[in-house]
Amino acid sequence: ELVRGITGIHELEEQLNRLLGIAEVKIIPGDSDDTPVVKEELGQACADQLKKILKAQNIIAVTGGTTMACAAEMMTREIGKGKQILFVPARGGVGDDVKNQANSICAKMAEQTGGSHRALYIPDQVSEKVRESLLQDPNISEVLNLIQSANIVLHGIGDAIKMATRRNTNDADMDKLLKEQAVGEAFGYYFNIEGEVVHKVSTVGLQLADLHRARHAVAVAGGKSKAKAIQSYMKSAPPNTVFITDEGAAKELFKAL
Ligand code: BG6
Repeated sequence: ELVRGITGIHELEEQLNRLLGIAEVKIIPGDSDDTPVVKEELGQACADQLKKILKAQNIIAVTGGTTMACAAEMMTREIGKGKQILFVPARGGVGDDVKNQANSICAKMAEQTGGSHRALYIPDQVSEKVRESLLQDPNISEVLNLIQSANIVLHGIGDAIKMATRRNTNDADMDKLLKEQAVGEAFGYYFNIEGEVVHKVSTVGLQLADLHRARHAVAVAGGKSKAKAIQSYMKSAPPNTVFITDEGAAKELFKAL
């Protein structure tokens, strides 16, 4: 099927790159919504990209999600050879399934590449008082500083309501997301189709400003069902973003832009 004169994946990559105003777009053939192996290929492309941008010393902030879990699976010793790599979770949230949590994914990435990792456990829904006392903990504040000084950020992008449901979001926040018409989510920020932040799950951890400060941001998300989510997030994406996606998402996104 031809999409508005776009004949090949390469042209689509270039068109999307121009429309989104980011550093690079990479498209994997197929649609990960229907074909699970495509998600593994997204993970592989993320691992390849990481290999390209690693310096001698690296602090890498990573989000959770099934896509990042695939990226972790695809990482190898070869990537980390001769490099110092420290993986830190972008946010502390523990609402998701353990295997999809940023803490577990950082541990896996460290294991696969021969790097190291730090954990951060700050539940999304704690009282202000509990949060404040957690922030007094020197171990926690050290990890928060590491997140802020990350030179690379690897993150997923999700459908807002799907993510809110997966995180067992309370009724009040869920109502807010529906009322504000949130469509996209990334590292705990929820965006409407205009790209405005309509909600944030936690006040600690990676902030959009940190993402803009980092040398490299790699966003990985595929599947036709994520097109709107991607569209909403991309308005806030830093210009240094390399976006790795699949054909299913890319074609749908292109139609909407
Ligand atoms: C979350 C990340 O854990 O996973 C988000 O914090 C992302 O940035 C989401 O939106 C995506 O999940 P999945 O499973 O669709 O890759």
